[in-house]
Amino acid sequence: MDYGMLCAQARSLGEAEGWFVALMANASALLWEALPDINWAGFYIIRGDKLTLGPFHGKAACISIPKEKGVCGAACRENRTMLVPDVHKFPGHIACDSASNAEIVIPLRDEAGEVKAVLDIDSPLLNRFTGEDRLGLEAFAHEIERAMKGL
Ligand code: SME
Repeated sequence: MDYGMLCAQARSLGEAEGWFVALMANASALLWEALPDINWAGFYIIRGDKLTLGPFHGKAACISIPKEKGVCGAACRENRTMLVPDVHKFPGHIACDSASNAEIVIPLRDEAGEVKAVLDIDSPLLNRFTGEDRLGLEAFAHEIERAMKGL
């Protein structure tokens, strides 16, 4: 997986348009095309005490996630990446698509370090995401958060 190329694509997306909806829509399309063995890639946006569904690729998903629930809620509360090799072992995991077996959720922060959104990628394969994927996807998320405007 060429994360250098993926990050360069994210950077040029951000240079073209920083409005968070357009940026997240194209970012999820990029991930969907580039990453093998995934069944969902998209964003949840913090709105008050919950996370609301943002732009994504994949099957229709839960619209609203309380901050105290799910892998997305944990990434947001703890302000850190959650790499989950087996979602069935993660207490409180929300199964939007029964095909999902592993996932990674990465927080997107503002300049003050506050979490504004999360990037969520799901896979039907157990242990799908490695440490290398984590570093590559964190760098990708960083390109998006640096460019995002209006959130
Ligand atoms: N994975 C999430 C729910 C959202 S769907 O996967 C799209 C979670 O447990 O936080």
